[in-house]
Formats: sequence, C-alpha cells, structure tokens
Amino acid sequence: MATLSLDKLVKRFGELEVIHGVDLSIDSGEFVVFVGPSGCGKSTLLRMIAGLESVTDGEIVIDGDVVNAIPASQRGLAMVFQTYALYPHMTVWQNLAFGLENINMPKPEIAERVHKAATLLQIGELLERKPKQLSGGQRQRVAIGRAIVRQPKIFLFDEPLSNLDAELRVQMRVEIAALHKRLGNTMIYVTHDQVEAMTMADKIVVLRHGYIEQIGPPLALFNNPANRFVAGFIGSPRMNMVEGSVAAIAEDGVTVDLPQIGRITATVTADGLGVGAPITLGIRPQHIHVGAEAINTIQASVRMVEHLGADTYFYCDLPGDHAVTVHMAGQSRVTAGDTIPIALPAPDCHVFRTDAGEVALGRLG
Ligand SMILES: Nc1ncnc2c1ncn2[C@@H]1O[C@H](COP(=O)(O)OP(=O)(O)OP(=O)(O)O)[C@@H](O)[C@H]1O
Ligand SMILES: [Mg+2]
Repeated sequence: MATLSLDKLVKRFGELEVIHGVDLSIDSGEFVVFVGPSGCGKSTLLRMIAGLESVTDGEIVIDGDVVNAIPASQRGLAMVFQTYALYPHMTVWQNLAFGLENINMPKPEIAERVHKAATLLQIGELLERKPKQLSGGQRQRVAIGRAIVRQPKIFLFDEPLSNLDAELRVQMRVEIAALHKRLGNTMIYVTHDQVEAMTMADKIVVLRHGYIEQIGPPLALFNNPANRFVAGFIGSPRMNMVEGSVAAIAEDGVTVDLPQIGRITATVTADGLGVGAPITLGIRPQHIHVGAEAINTIQASVRMVEHLGADTYFYCDLPGDHAVTVHMAGQSRVTAGDTIPIALPAPDCHVFRTDAGEVALGRLG
C-alpha cells in the first residue's frame, strides 16, 4: 500500500513544456484513472511517476519520500504497457520469472509467486507457451502477471486494453477492477476511453494540454463538470451544447435565450454574469425528454433515428444550424423527417461561461 503525491510537477522536452505544474494526491489503495485527449500528457505523467522520464521541476513523493532521483527499478512500482512488451523467445513462465531472477530471488519463492499470479489471472495452463502462441487477451494477462509477481507498491497501466477487441476489452476491464479489489494496491490507469474511466475509477483526473481540468469521483464529474471541456469529455454520447445569452436572472435559476430556438431556464446561479452575457447551454442526451412539458420545451426536427432495441437515439436539428442528440430508453415510432417536441429539465441544464476556462455556473440546491 502506498500514497503518491505530485507537487507542481513540470516536464519539458527541450524548449517544449508538456506538463505545466501538476498537483495531485493519491490515497493508498485508490484506483485513479488519467483521461484526456491524445497528446495531453497522460503517458508522460505516468512515465515520470515510473521513473522512465526525468522530472524538469517539482516533486514526486511516494509514501512521504521524494523519489525524483530514485531510479525506476527502486521505486517499487510496476508498469503495464499497451504493447505488452513480452519477451518473444521466452515462455510465459520465463516471462513472469525473469524480473525476479534478475534480482536473485531464491527459486522456490519465484515459483510460488509465478504460480500465485498465474492462478489469479487464469493463465496456469499457458505457462509453457511462447507469446506468439497466445491470444491478445492472454498476452495482456501475462503482462499484468509480470507486474503482479513483483508485488509493487503501485501499479501503473498505460492504455493496457487498447489493442484488444471491444468484447475482450470489456472482459479485461472487469478483471482488472476485480484484481484491484482483491489486491487492494494503489493503481494508476491511463486511458482515453471515458467508459473505462467511468467504470473503473475511484477518482478520475481529466487532463488537457498538460493541465488538470478536474479531479473527482466519476459521478461527481458527470453530474457537476467544472467546465465545458470536462462536460464534453465525460459522458457518452457527448453533452449537447448550444450558444446563447443570459435573458433573465431569478432566485430559482437563470433563463437563457437561445437565438431562434427559445428560452430555457436552468437551476444555476448567475455567478456575476449579467443579462446579455454570452453563455453556452449544455444538456446530456439522456436528460432530454421527448414530449412537451410546462417549461423548457422546444421543437426539434429529426434527421436520423438509431434503434438499438433497448434504447433509441434521435439525431435532431434545431433552428440556427444547431444539432442535438436525444436518448430515449425503449423503442419509438418517430421517424426521420418528423418534428417532435423535446423538453430540457431545468435541473439537468448546465450553463458555461464563454470566457477563458469556460467554467460552469454554480448549481442551485
Ligand atoms: N520524448 C519526447 N520528446 C518530445 N516531445 C514529447 C516526447 N514524448 C512526448 N512528447 C510530447 O508531449 C506531449 C504529451 O505526450 P504524451 O505521450 O504524454 O500524450 P498522451 O496523453 O499519452 O497521448 P496518447 O493518448 O496519444 O497516448 C505530446 O505533445 C508529445 O508530442
Ligand atoms: Mg499515451
């Protein structure tokens, strides 16, 4: 078990600064997921923690000790990569044992650790095979096994499932989550798949351009995204966004004017914005109701319908070149070309400033 903290961590490659003073603290046993678009610095941050990349400025602290100058092999961490990085000429057994032999661990202890990891990962039958005789999922299990046998204080995963097909990814996702429950270790997991982030994390760290945009439990980020970027990144399909302006401010919320579409009231505070201020209204596809309600109802023209059986998605156009996606549980007879009323419940509407940061207005209640 181990705690980890990053203190004003900076990384520069030559002149190029890619991590800009990141602060983060991770509790012992936490499953933390780094998410963000390609190039935002997820792998760089993980590699710095692992000791595979030097620190330009700031500190990495593991269990209270600054480890900036400690080599990777002595940090007590183990990393699992996207590409497995197995030794092709060695058997599964040898791949699992190799790191332990290198530190001259007694043979009986190596055998015990390898068997234990193999049992845990259900690869006991495969120990004599070479990596090329394994499926993608089995290879990834071996790569994870190689991390487990080292009994690290912290596991680091860099997109470990992105080479697997969709079905296997779901299965391995569940297995890694179960492994975390079982071992109880601190784990840091990098992905750009927000479904993995939502389902696995105790705490999600959303990164963009080398800055942390928000840190929190999955549902906290989903329900209360701090800004427009996080709102758009967390949740699938993406949150709908429409530009408008503040039309009225009252005790029970802010009414916004969406040009050509209508007026929508959101249960948020104005946070210093006045009438006329430009804003962006956000609402998730799952929160829009099909049908007219007392307030916040607008007309949408259905461009396309996706029938998934248990769910239906409507891709709609609004006046003024705006598009919205609407999710409905169950099945529908609505077809492309229909115009339908849709209602945007005030408590589910998010409003974002349009100035730098595009911060969310505070929510009431
Ligand atoms: N060795 C390097 N030299 C110069 N620039 C680098 C180096 N490694 C990474 N970068 C740059 O640092 C930034 C962050 O890269 P990083 O690999 O951490 O992104 P990432 O979030 O892991 O992206 P992805 O999702 O594509 O894996 C990118 O702009 C990248 O081009
Ligand atoms: Mg990466």
